[in-house]
Amino acid sequence: MAISYKELGLVNTRDMFKKAVGGGYAIPAYNFNNLEQIQAIILACTETKSPVILQVSKGARSYANQTLLRFLAQGVVEYAKEIGGGKNIPIALHLDHGDSFELCQDCIAFGFSSVMIDGSHLPYEENIALTKKVVEYAHQHDVTVEGELGVLAGIEDDVKAAEHIYTQPDEVVDFTSRTGVDSLAISIGTSHGAFKFKPGQVPRIRLDILQEIEKRIPGFPIVMHGSSSVPQDLVAKINQYGGKMKDAVGISEDDIREAARSAVCKVNIDSDGRLAMTAAIRETLAKKPEEFDPRKYLGPARDALKGLYMHKCINVLGSAGHAFD
Ligand code: G3H
Ligand code: 13P
Ligand code: ZN
Repeated sequence: MAISYKELGLVNTRDMFKKAVGGGYAIPAYNFNNLEQIQAIILACTETKSPVILQVSKGARSYANQTLLRFLAQGVVEYAKEIGGGKNIPIALHLDHGDSFELCQDCIAFGFSSVMIDGSHLPYEENIALTKKVVEYAHQHDVTVEGELGVLAGIEDDVKAAEHIYTQPDEVVDFTSRTGVDSLAISIGTSHGAFKFKPGQVPRIRLDILQEIEKRIPGFPIVMHGSSSVPQDLVAKINQYGGKMKDAVGISEDDIREAARSAVCKVNIDSDGRLAMTAAIRETLAKKPEEFDPRKYLGPARDALKGLYMHKCINVLGSAGHAFD
């Protein structure tokens, strides 16, 4: 049975982005796959009074089971109200890296308020045609759409690109005007996962390309994927308690902060959350090997995740305090 996100109390990203671009901050887009992650996200964003985008990848949708996910999505606003003293922060439910029109259509029927159609691996004209088709459908339901131009190095869905294909600033006016997208994901040197730069490589992103893009489409909402900073204390803790994550490195928080002050109004973070949870679980199990109640290690993992997200909202993205602007 189809349900509109509006019936669930969710919002699309239009208003969030307008305020974020004007206010010089970025909305956190945190991925989730399970109950503890969704709790940590809502707790952190409610406590810091930050608007939030809850992201579900295609993989997360099948991992969590879409029927169960529906119940989580239906309860999330009520949960936010409960912990927010009767008032909930703005919450968008977003499909991350949608790869077909049908998947976007299905998510919209399911209660998503925002979808990404990732046609970035397609030839330019095919990316435009697919993105436009999704936009036309989504807008009939007042659902916002993110498109992508340029390809991130590393793994994007099942496609591996050895090198970044940076977004070409000369294409952005044509792409955004012909597709009608509400936001544009760009490739400026970020990448997915916990190994974003090779040893010896300078871990910087191309903020100069971002500036060129901004000049072409002033005020247009820009999205940055692959924006985990891979905190080295978390990597060290994982390795200390039996993990093997040699040479894991991410994007500097200074670069993310600078991007968030400009037209970047959505920053995607998944890997840092995975690291925070893994570090906490490894530590708990190493220190208390007799423990076998999942709540005893998932609880500390949830707390660690909440702390990480609060830090992002307050110190990196600047979204804290903007929920009720
Ligand atoms: O962009 C990718 C996100 O980190 C989601 O990853 O496809 O493994 O759920 P996933
Ligand atoms: P990270 O792997 O850097 O967390 O990026 C996540 C992402 O872009 C989700 O779409
Ligand atoms: Zn991504």
